[in-house]
This record gives sequence, structure tokens and C-alpha cells, in this order.
Amino acid sequence: MPKDISVTREEGRRIAEQAIARDVEKEVLLDVENLHVTLFTEDGALPAITDLSFVMRKGETLAVVGESGCGKSMTALSIMGLLPQPPAKITGGQINFDGTDLAKLSRDEMRAYRGSKMGMIFQEPMTSLNPVMTAGKQIREGILVHNPKMDKKEADARALEMIKLVGIPAPEKVFRSYPHELSGGMRQRVMIAIALACQPDLLICDEPTTALDVTIQAQILQLIDRMKQELGTAVMLITHDMGVVSEMADWVLVMYAGHKVEYTVSAELFTNPKHPYTRGLIDSIPSLDDDKEKLFAIPGNVPMLSEMPTGCPFHPRCPFARDICRKETPDLLPVDGDENHRCACWKYTDKWGE
Ligand SMILES: Nc1ncnc2c1ncn2[C@@H]1O[C@H](COP(=O)(O)OP(=O)(O)OP(=O)(O)O)[C@@H](O)[C@H]1O
Ligand code: SF4
Ligand SMILES: [Mg+2]
Repeated sequence: MPKDISVTREEGRRIAEQAIARDVEKEVLLDVENLHVTLFTEDGALPAITDLSFVMRKGETLAVVGESGCGKSMTALSIMGLLPQPPAKITGGQINFDGTDLAKLSRDEMRAYRGSKMGMIFQEPMTSLNPVMTAGKQIREGILVHNPKMDKKEADARALEMIKLVGIPAPEKVFRSYPHELSGGMRQRVMIAIALACQPDLLICDEPTTALDVTIQAQILQLIDRMKQELGTAVMLITHDMGVVSEMADWVLVMYAGHKVEYTVSAELFTNPKHPYTRGLIDSIPSLDDDKEKLFAIPGNVPMLSEMPTGCPFHPRCPFARDICRKETPDLLPVDGDENHRCACWKYTDKWGE
């Protein structure tokens, strides 16, 4: 059972308050403000990300959760300057990273940030590996970014160490292999080794362990967590797995159809979830004594961008939906006056009773 789900509401609040108190000490590394990403397609201009704001502090893990198609990868790619262009384009807002608005930088300028300051473990490893360079050399390049004076032999030895660290069997062979000679799981691990070798200030992990088996999954997540503790890396963890979220995250951002619908510290989210969508995600977590037949699933699907409902985007699937939900989009407001817990749902506003 994930740790945060088994605690009481009171314990959750106490843990949440401690986490927020620790936050005050930490420096903000990334500040995303009112980000809009639009897809320019044959069906017209479609809103992939709508008015998204969040911060990430040094040494902190932010989990970004939501079902398939909610805009998690688009968020990550916006920060990395790797949106598929066309059709995607940042059409509003700022991405402030260490004092610079990344949304204003050119592709070339962004290159200087990737690798050394920001690293990403992609959902699909082939997109980020260089097909004409061996795995070992690609990891070595990452090590040399941070240690330019290190001689190649030493960098090779460190690269081999990284390969062993991410649980690759026959490390010497993999060191000399090209990406196409490796299985999907192996490629995923090589990509993780490259990202970790670069020691970036911000590491974005887009479903980092989905392609890996369970024991390796746990090792990789531990490795990411250790990097955060030891090097103060800020980690954005994109995942479908709420169990992993409860184990790893400091803050959680719940996305639905390109909108931020709930945002708070992990202990608070799991003990006091407010948005009906968040509740659905938490209720869908399987536990050991669950009867598989009865496992909860949120009815319906995430809407297509071309068929975005009016009002609250979740209303066609929400058991509480009323007229106001179908007509007006709720703002993201503090829950019970708590600035550190925000939720976009009419249920928690004065208008609900009207
Ligand atoms: N290259 C593209 N061209 C057109 N639409 C796209 C493209 N990539 C993503 N989309 C659309 O943008 C929306 C957000 O997609 P995104 O990939 O960010 O979702 P996601 O939350 O990462 O989902 P998953 O969990 O499946 O990875 C979806 O509606 C998707 O269909
Ligand atoms: S605003 Fe209405 S439809 Fe949307 S989540 Fe809240 S209750 Fe459900
Ligand atoms: Mg994705």
C-alpha cells in the first residue's frame, strides 16, 4: 500500500504542513506561468495546454498525473523546447528557468540548456538516442559535459559504472552497442544513464519505467530519488501510476484535457483529494485485497481536443455535474482558503448552492 494513502486525514495534514514549511527554504528553479500551447491542425487551432501555472523548487519532485491525452508530455516538451513544430506552438505564458524565459528562446539557444541544465527521460527512448553513436559513447559525452577536464579513459570507466547502475546485464557489450542493437527496455535504461550522467538541475521523467519490469522499475525510481537527495536535482515525474506518485512526489499536479484541475502537496492530495477527477484516479489504484472484477474505472474517456466540452472539461464524466458545470469553466481556487491546495471545481465555491 502506498504510504500516503494509508495515513489518516489528520496525519496527512501534519505531513503536508511539514512539507510546505520545508519548501520555504528551497529556491525556485522553474516557474511556469499561464502557459498556453495550441495545435494548429486541419480541424483548426486546438488547445493542448490551457493556462497552466506551477513552480518547481530545487531538490523537489513534482508529479504530473492524468490519463492518456491530458497534456503531460506536451507540458514536458514545452519546457524542453522540443514541442513538435508544426503543429504545436506556445501561444501564451512564460517558462522561467533560473531567471530566463525559455518560451522566448530559439531552438539553438535552447540547445545550451538541454543536457547540462535540463535532462529528459522520454516516453519513447528512440527519439532521444543518437542512432550512429554507441551507448557507451553517448553516456561518456554526458559525463564530459560536467567534467570537461576528465580524460576519456576515466569518463569511459564512469560511463560503464552508470550502465551497471541502471541494471543492464552484460554492461561491456551494451557499452559497445548501437541503439538499434538493443531491446526497448535496454534503450530505456541507456537513456536513463545518459540523463543521470549529465547531472542536470532539472530532470523530466516522462513515464520513465513503463517499459521496464517491476524490479528494475523500483531500482530506477530509487536512483532518481537518490539523485534528487544528493545533488538537489528537481524532478518532474510524469506518470499514470498513482502508487509511484504517493511514494516519490512532494507536490502533485493533476491535469485533465490540458487543464490543471488540482495542485497540492502529495500528503494533502492523497488524504484530502477534492476534484472528482482526482478522486477517480485515486479510487482506481489497485490494492492487494482488491477484487479485480470490481476495480473502479472512471467512466468515459478524455475528450478529443477538437471536441472539448463547454464549461468544466470533466463534466461529461462527472457524477456531480450540474448546469453551471456545463456552462462555465471553474477557476482554480484555494480549497478552504488554503493557498497550497488549489482545485478547479464548482462544488467548492459559493455558486454551488445557488
Ligand atoms: N504531434 C501531435 N500532433 C497532433 N496532436 C498531438 C500531437 N501530440 C499530442 N497531440 C495531442 O495533444 C494532446 C495532449 O497529448 P500528450 O501527448 O501531451 O498527452 P499525455 O498526457 O502525455 O498522454 P500519454 O499518457 O498517452 O502519454 C492529446 O489530445 C494528443 O492527441
Ligand atoms: S465543476 Fe462540476 S463537472 Fe467539473 S468536476 Fe466539479 S462538479 Fe464535476
Ligand atoms: Mg505522454
